[in-house]
Amino acid sequence: MHDAPSRKLIIAIDGPAGAGKSTIASRLARKLGYVNLESGAMYRALGLKAIEWDVSFEDEPALVKLAHDSRIQLEPTLTGNRVLLDGRDVSERVREPDVTDAASRVSVHPKVREWMVARQQEMGTGGGIVMEGRDIGTKVFPNADVKIFLDADPVVREQRRLRQQNVRDAYSEATAAELRERDRRDRTRAASPLVAAPDALILDSTSLSEDEVLRRMEELVKAKMEV
Ligand code: DC
Repeated sequence: MHDAPSRKLIIAIDGPAGAGKSTIASRLARKLGYVNLESGAMYRALGLKAIEWDVSFEDEPALVKLAHDSRIQLEPTLTGNRVLLDGRDVSERVREPDVTDAASRVSVHPKVREWMVARQQEMGTGGGIVMEGRDIGTKVFPNADVKIFLDADPVVREQRRLRQQNVRDAYSEATAAELRERDRRDRTRAASPLVAAPDALILDSTSLSEDEVLRRMEELVKAKMEV
């Protein structure tokens, strides 16, 4: 039997930092009336808590305990996710460079990932979500209805990130270096490294406008809804 056209899909968007996932996921969710969930914000919240509680990024058992003892909530808004850590709004704090680095470091641990994946799966129950991250199509929702791997040339990603951060020239090399290092760590870690799911559509946004990327994604989703 065919699914009803109005069924609530699970849409997974993965890809490296700076590929434009958050903006696109948020716009796509808005168009569909879906909820957009930024899984990376959860790793960022845990990274922040590790900084604040002085827990080593290398100490997997302590990080897992920290995660268990924490309340990490994502609240979708029109422009992205509000991030709450133990009831405190840390949405802006988690975007700062030290937390960005911490997120990438705490995310290498398999048991930390297990905890995160279980929470993310709970959030997706019932569908009607666009979840973006690094392992959504491979681990969190291997049966997602639509899987997109959004990529872009590293130089373009660095430029986008710099523009996003309004970075002054003097700091640009540091930001670019940070992005390259985070990329390397996300792609080479043993547990759920960043890879495209075999059944993901790979979309290279290097020379595409944001509107064009969105249009292509909408086409994919529409095709899936009509199946
Ligand atoms: O998407 P982001 O830049 O907010 O992610 C921050 C870090 O979290 C990223 O460097 C790797 C990690 N992450 C992950 O391992 N798996 C995800 N699904 C999302 C993020």
